[in-house]
Amino acid sequence: MKLIIAGATGLLGAEIIRQSLEIPEITQVVALSHETVHLDECIDSSKVRSVVIDDYGEYPDDVKAEFAGADACIWTVALTPLQPGFDFAKAKRVCQDYTKLGFEAMCEAGPARPFRFIYLSAEGTPRGPKKDPVILPDFFLIWRKTELMVQRFPKGKEGVEVCIARPGVIANSTTWSRTLVANLFRIINRFGRTLPSIQRSELAAAVLNQARDGIEKRTLLNADLVRLGRRELKFRSAPRLS
Ligand SMILES: NC(=O)c1ccc[n+]([C@@H]2O[C@H](COP(=O)([O-])OP(=O)(O)OC[C@H]3O[C@@H](n4cnc5c(N)ncnc54)[C@H](OP(=O)(O)O)[C@@H]3O)[C@@H](O)[C@H]2O)c1
Repeated sequence: MKLIIAGATGLLGAEIIRQSLEIPEITQVVALSHETVHLDECIDSSKVRSVVIDDYGEYPDDVKAEFAGADACIWTVALTPLQPGFDFAKAKRVCQDYTKLGFEAMCEAGPARPFRFIYLSAEGTPRGPKKDPVILPDFFLIWRKTELMVQRFPKGKEGVEVCIARPGVIANSTTWSRTLVANLFRIINRFGRTLPSIQRSELAAAVLNQARDGIEKRTLLNADLVRLGRRELKFRSAPRLS
């Protein structure tokens, strides 16, 4: 199985790459990112190919050639309001336009059939136009439009399957700003509405499971992802007969 991981140096992307090394059914990993992906030299990472691009909106022929025959893609590229220099035009380009252009480049490259495209959205993204969120409405509007766009991807493309994963807050914190946000959510949870969260390892395991075994539901909520991730991690840790 050939898997493309877009946003390979991100918080989630890096964990997906790490876990993909443990899955024997995955024989090739295309790690798509702005920078070369460096993996622990002690681990056999020969199945990972780091493919560096300047812009997720442009796919030269040599990059498309790397996509050819892929069975699945996990798309984690996104811009969040926490990032420095955040603005809505940029957020639209990164979250919405890049997703479309990346998907089209993979289709042009000639993927395997079925080809599973798993898109990372976020829990809380409103489903309908009448449910505008109070916090960051413009930003959530971009996510909503992107989800609707991704749902239409299979139209006219035989064998293309899509899944929208909607995690809550990814609980592991690798930088001070992420730690700050995680703590903020912890405080909010104490005072009432509980915002869902998920461990990074569980989320990576859940989306890898769906890429490998098939899509259970076209939209996976945080609770689904926790359940699938825990089940997948348990399965992998169980002793296997050789
Ligand atoms: N973190 C959370 O708590 C959380 C919660 C809910 C949903 N999600 C979703 O889960 C997915 C993964 O989240 P994450 O925390 O792993 O994301 P992340 O680390 O912030 O970013 C993922 C990737 O997006 C690309 N990216 C970020 N800013 C960019 C920019 N300005 N221009 C171009 N590319 C840019 C980067 O690609 P390169 O590697 O090439 O630099 C980065 O690796 C995202 O779709 C996110 O919306 C995250």
